[in-house]
Amino acid sequence: MNWCRPLFGVCIFFLVSTGVSFGQHSYVGADKCKMCHKVQYDSWLQTPHAKATETAKASTKWKFEPACLSCHATNKDEKLAGVQCEACHGPGSDYKAMSIMKDRAKAIANGLIIPTQQTCDSCHDGKDHHKKVAFNRDVVHAHKK
Ligand code: HEC
Ligand code: HEC
Ligand code: HEC
Ligand code: HEC
Repeated sequence: MNWCRPLFGVCIFFLVSTGVSFGQHSYVGADKCKMCHKVQYDSWLQTPHAKATETAKASTKWKFEPACLSCHATNKDEKLAGVQCEACHGPGSDYKAMSIMKDRAKAIANGLIIPTQQTCDSCHDGKDHHKKVAFNRDVVHAHKK
């Protein structure tokens, strides 16, 4: 949490006062989201994001190395293969429960991220082969509305 360091005291105060523990949330994997979000899951599975780890490993252009996983997997973890839900929506351990998910504000307080252009920019950074991409909700998965 680099952003925390310069303001350490303030940061601790913020965490305590809001009851939020940033950095504590853990990754649960896309299968856990599937049961409640089948429309998004099934359509995401058809996108290049779902196959991003395989693509990097199979590359004949560049040699695969662990550093590739920072963009070609979720949380740099090969076991969380592909750019999964949580790579864009944040680690789900603390927001995935129905009682929290159904309340948008609570879900966000428990780590849910509503993606923006910045989310895309973290991997599509415009360097090397990582071309910039314009924010577009229609290319990531289908939506109910
Ligand atoms: C137990 C069922 C359940 C599980 C498991 C679940 N969700 Fe949800 N989620 C919901 C419900 C209910 C809503 C609120 C209504 C809606 O948007 O469908 C919601 C809303 C959302 C929203 C929309 C927030 C908004 O208001 O724009 C996102 C994004 C989301 N979930 C992502 C995830 C991800 C990622 C996972 C897996 C880590 C996950 N959910 C797991 C039930 C669930
Ligand atoms: C900073 C993030 C980032 C890193 C690190 C990264 N990639 Fe990528 N990679 C991307 C993005 C974003 C795309 C999609 C680019 C597009 O098509 O617009 C991509 C696409 C690809 C593709 C398919 C497109 C093509 O040009 O063939 C391959 C193969 C690939 N990467 C391999 C690798 C390998 C191997 C490594 C490690 C040596 C790596 N990448 C490291 C972000 C990254
Ligand atoms: C965790 C890193 C990561 C994030 C975050 C991310 N992407 Fe990607 N994206 C990739 C990688 C890696 C690929 C290449 C996958 C492959 O070819 O296997 C890719 C591929 C794509 C492609 C396909 C490009 C092509 O030429 O086929 C589109 C479109 C795309 N991303 C859009 C987005 C958008 C829009 C966002 C933000 C809402 C986003 N991505 C967020 C890593 C990421
Ligand atoms: C590449 C980034 C990315 C990935 C991967 C991703 N999403 Fe999303 N998701 C988005 C964006 C962007 C939106 C739209 C946000 C908005 O409307 O402003 C969204 C919206 C949603 C919503 C709100 C309802 C809707 O359909 O608009 C749900 C639920 C959701 N995603 C679930 C998931 C689940 C489940 C997965 C994994 C199977 C997933 N997302 C993977 C970027 C992503």
